Amino acid sequence: MTTTAFHATVTRHRLGIGLLLCALIAVTAGGCHSHSAGLAHQMDRAPGPDWSQPTYARGVVAADHRIGSQAGLDMLRQGGNAVDAAVAAAFCQAVVRPYSCGLGGGGFMVVYLNRNPLGRPVSAALIYRERTPSAVGPEYYVSLGIPDASTIGPDAVGIPGTVAGLLETLDRYGTLDRGIVLQPAIAAARDGFAIDDHYVGACERVIEKLEQHPEWRQRLGEPGFRFLWERFLFSGHPTVGDTLKQPELARTLEMIEKYGASGFYAGPVAAAIIEACPQMTQQDLAAFEVESKQPLKANRLGYRFLAMPLPSSGGVAMLETLRILEHYESVVDHAPGPADPGYAHLLTEAMKHAFADRARWLADDQYASVPLGHLLDNDRVDRLAERFDPARTLDSQDYGSSQITADVIEDAGTSHLSVVDRWGNAAACTETINLEFGSLLCVPEFGLVLNNEMDDFVTDPGQPNAFGLVQSDRNLPEPGKRPLSSMSPTIVLDDAGHVVAVAGASGGPRIISGTLQVLLNGLLFRMSPNQAVAAPRIHHQWLPNTLWFENRWKQGSSDSYDPLIRDLRDRGHAVDWRPDIGNVQLILRAPDGTYGAASDPRKGGEPAGW
Ligand code: GLY
Repeated sequence: MTTTAFHATVTRHRLGIGLLLCALIAVTAGGCHSHSAGLAHQMDRAPGPDWSQPTYARGVVAADHRIGSQAGLDMLRQGGNAVDAAVAAAFCQAVVRPYSCGLGGGGFMVVYLNRNPLGRPVSAALIYRERTPSAVGPEYYVSLGIPDASTIGPDAVGIPGTVAGLLETLDRYGTLDRGIVLQPAIAAARDGFAIDDHYVGACERVIEKLEQHPEWRQRLGEPGFRFLWERFLFSGHPTVGDTLKQPELARTLEMIEKYGASGFYAGPVAAAIIEACPQMTQQDLAAFEVESKQPLKANRLGYRFLAMPLPSSGGVAMLETLRILEHYESVVDHAPGPADPGYAHLLTEAMKHAFADRARWLADDQYASVPLGHLLDNDRVDRLAERFDPARTLDSQDYGSSQITADVIEDAGTSHLSVVDRWGNAAACTETINLEFGSLLCVPEFGLVLNNEMDDFVTDPGQPNAFGLVQSDRNLPEPGKRPLSSMSPTIVLDDAGHVVAVAGASGGPRIISGTLQVLLNGLLFRMSPNQAVAAPRIHHQWLPNTLWFENRWKQGSSDSYDPLIRDLRDRGHAVDWRPDIGNVQLILRAPDGTYGAASDPRKGGEPAGW
């Protein structure tokens, strides 16, 4: 399809409705003229990126599964735009990464349409994050008194948003019919696919959890849990190469193809969800609404960032961290790469401020008062930056609260995909069912795995959630409210409005640090997408007071990481190790204007391009 055909396909009326429905409040964080706004352009980093990897002129999709990327590419080949590709890939990811995302979950998408019938760029942040059932209030989990109620079983489940979100995004900004866009997912569910290493790893972690919790294991006799065990966990013996077929999910997708959102939010699917989750009502499902806002927009490092607004903390935290980095231009400027100790220390300190603010202030701003303008105010962030001590880390209370220690679990819930099309439009989409296989509760007759997103709220005040995140009462559950998220789908533009990067990640709070570091690797250190994504990462979320390094730091020569670890310990950081810090899918604009893409090797995905 030509650009002209695209213009003809998207009627002014259709796009106009979408624009009209967009929230008009554009939160513009930071002006264009910070003292270091041109940092990246001023830096003389050599050599340039290794662009020996393939690049594509007609469109590229990076999902965390090959089949998801291919589904997106199919849409681009059929003349679809970035949104068509993102929606097709996301429906497909629901099939091939059922432990990460799915129709039983929710998500966010940032869209940037550079070429559209309005003749000027359009951007939007679509919010289809799960909402709280009307029966669930702030005291719900404390009153229940059931351990793990917010992580396993029916009480953990928020009202799913994925189906409504993807269909509405397609309707507003896509060009292809939903019948076309749903085909790859229907085929993957019906015909099956071979499970990979990453799938088996996720199963093994859940099986281990079930072994550690005999009370959870007992529940495997109930149909909703038994389906998980027999179908998705292969009765405890998943093997790489086993075929996973999901005929029930294929039928559900066909009902969505035929009836649209009401094929999910009404009728037999809704009835089965309510039967599985008695705290949810028909009205809860029928009333689910997709929210559309402007992305958070700010100039950082010489680029224009379009980041995810509340109820995700991702945009606020990333913009705050980047502002602090800008404040210390000389440290950043002199760093030859991300393993530079001075840079790693500065990045850690910046993340700690951002995560401390996340804990104290952030929540769904439709329900809680969040001083967003204050939080994004450059002068405020500059004052935080001035607390930076290059020689040592500060005490936790200097970031604003008392110390709490918590276990932080390994997890592969959540999935991100990035798309750029031939017109320079882009979509960044992150979806989740929260922890691996969500609540572990399925709706067998329709092949759904239900989320456990309620655990992203504060369910036990003062206590950290499964990700070890300490949060304020602002993030208590309330009917209709959406839990605070870390999902960070992000699009970055240059001065001319061209997309230079699209990124996002899975990994709970590590989404923020992972996405940020990969973008910095690409935009600041001029790495190619493969290099930027593969490079080892660090993570600090303020509390617990631990600076995590990925194990892959050890895979290089010990010369490269030993001095870094020693240096950071000398500056007072408590260092620990973990397997992964997020799984990031990145698209970067190559010097010749084409696009390169990388799916994170940590999750085994593969991009597709044309
Ligand atoms: N469920 C993980 C997140 O939204 O941050």
